[in-house]
Amino acid sequence: MTTPETDKIAYGGDYNPEQWPEPVWDEDHRLFRAARIDTLTVGVFSWALTQPAEDTYDFTVLDRILDRAAAEDRRVCLATGTAALPPWLARAHPEVNRTDFEGRRHRYGQRHNFCPGSPAYRRLSAALADRLAERYAAHPALLAWHINNEYGGACYCDRCAAAFRVWLRERYGALDALNDAWCTAFWSHRYTNWEEIEAPSALTEHWRGPDHTAFQGITLDYHRFTTDALLGCFLGEKEAIRAHDPDTPVTTNFMGAYRPLDYHRWAPHLDFASWDSYPPLDAPPTRAALGHDLMRGLKDGAPFWLMEQTPSTTACREVNPLRRPGELRLATWQAVAHGADAALYFQLRASRGACEKYHGAVIGHAGREDTRVFREVADLGRELAELGPATLGARTPARTALLFDWDSWWALELSDGPSRLVRYQDVVHTYYRAARAAGADVDVVAVTADLTPYDVVIAPVLHMVKGDLAPRLEAVAARGGTVLTTFLSGRVDEHDNAFLTDVPGPLAGLLGVRVDEWDARPAGTANPVVLGTGDEALHTEARLVFEIVLPRGAEPVGTYRADFYAGTPAVTRHPVGASGGEGWYVATALDQPGVDWVVRRVLARHGLVGPYADHLSVETAARTAPDGTRLLFLLNHAPEPVSVTAHTTAVDLLTGKRAERGETLTLDPYGVRVLRPEQGRAH
Ligand code: GLA
Ligand code: ZN
Repeated sequence: MTTPETDKIAYGGDYNPEQWPEPVWDEDHRLFRAARIDTLTVGVFSWALTQPAEDTYDFTVLDRILDRAAAEDRRVCLATGTAALPPWLARAHPEVNRTDFEGRRHRYGQRHNFCPGSPAYRRLSAALADRLAERYAAHPALLAWHINNEYGGACYCDRCAAAFRVWLRERYGALDALNDAWCTAFWSHRYTNWEEIEAPSALTEHWRGPDHTAFQGITLDYHRFTTDALLGCFLGEKEAIRAHDPDTPVTTNFMGAYRPLDYHRWAPHLDFASWDSYPPLDAPPTRAALGHDLMRGLKDGAPFWLMEQTPSTTACREVNPLRRPGELRLATWQAVAHGADAALYFQLRASRGACEKYHGAVIGHAGREDTRVFREVADLGRELAELGPATLGARTPARTALLFDWDSWWALELSDGPSRLVRYQDVVHTYYRAARAAGADVDVVAVTADLTPYDVVIAPVLHMVKGDLAPRLEAVAARGGTVLTTFLSGRVDEHDNAFLTDVPGPLAGLLGVRVDEWDARPAGTANPVVLGTGDEALHTEARLVFEIVLPRGAEPVGTYRADFYAGTPAVTRHPVGASGGEGWYVATALDQPGVDWVVRRVLARHGLVGPYADHLSVETAARTAPDGTRLLFLLNHAPEPVSVTAHTTAVDLLTGKRAERGETLTLDPYGVRVLRPEQGRAH
């Protein structure tokens, strides 16, 4: 089962009309029509409404909302509404409230607040999903199921600790294996009874917040356990839905690169991926793009849904800037360019009160349509309607993979030494950004993904190397591909125990290097690095961590210029086998120009530098439709126009205009082109 079937990009968003009087619904639908809004995400926070007491369900209002949607020819993404508890539930079953990292048992309040191990929560959330599915499985408006909302966080109650012990028994079988995995010979931690194991929290192994643990092994396993515990909640609801509805696709809205949950462990259980994109508004556009590509990678490249984005402004941040004119359109086309088959907002009409009353909405408190935001939303709605089905089901023909690994992320950021300043996401983003700037389409995939479709595999801070990953990376190079990895890779096994070999452990053969020592310096201290020689040399800088590399078959590509390791390699390449494959190693946190230089050289080896790579503000992204038609998106992220030379003769699907190869194409400020090259070929 896959992404819901629609005849155009689904357009709409979160719609909570139970929060306002019914006469306003007429106005809602009139405005939806004006904006070509066809998809409504309904019921995300409706638990207290649909189940006012433990033994009472009341679907009167929800019936009316769905019937009305159907009558207006709109489709509904129906949420189970289990992400915010009703007060009666918390009062009747206080165990549903979470216990936080500090050990405080919470009382009723907020949302996303349930203990994943609470039997009452499991029972009642599945029961609600069951009732909803029974009632609406055959409803003509139903398009997709949206379970819960932004699962996240963790609970440290005694019940969760007990469930953790059960999970550990299943994972390790015997305490000896657990003691070995957690290295409990250190600091006298040898467990002799499962009951001795506590949840790792501020009261136990942690001395300064969630990242400072005395034992990485237990904390790492608690992250994995929490991922599975919340997934168990999702599966309980999904099973209840499936009992009534075998067909309608099921999703839950993720949050992109969200550290607490390993979405790769969830991915097989979703019919399609969806996520909420709220990039900080000063972030480079590659931040959102990385989120899109990571989400697309969850389901083997199948299209995902952009479940939420703000049409204008967020509310939860200290300062909540507006999206500038044109930015919403650009962000939406960017999502489509990266594989979104839906563009949905949070939210369609603003709530009157509570903490999100100032959150941006398609329709504001005054209910007007003559606002800038409504006009931009409506213009985009028209454009998406005119485009029709051209992008639906299209896939990204990427030959570059970037490995993204929650275990490596956790292990790296839970570790003492060498530097707390190295942030996994930042390093990953630097490499992703470099590849995107060079014009390469990138699949962001799990370390377990099939690597055979790729010429280039980039694995930044691949801290943990598990299973057969090392031989699979070697195979990429053996058939002529290039593998690029960085400092702090190949350090630990799946339990976060160091490999008892030279660094970089199982990657040493592929990379042809040995690392005995590593230096770390404050963020303000740079070591100059020279990359390459002669005309193509780049003088750049590196920071944070400086590994001292002894080449063992690799050749230096760049060298440090300062400190006692001046003149030693900072970047190396290692020819592998007879097919021209290579293993590249970047031993330090190069600045962005340095990473750009390295990544571009690697991509160039395989002809993967795109035709518009020299236009800094222009992002390109390719998609191939199910009928083989290739589409090339050109996105101008600058507030000024930019002119490029068309690399192929193509029709712009947004304007219907044809441009000859070699002709000058001018993109407006924040402008977008969706080019369909003639003969269906982009290159
Ligand atoms: C999240 C939630 C929504 C809403 C928005 C506000 O994505 O899913 O319910 O709170 O944030 O930005
Ligand atoms: Zn709990």
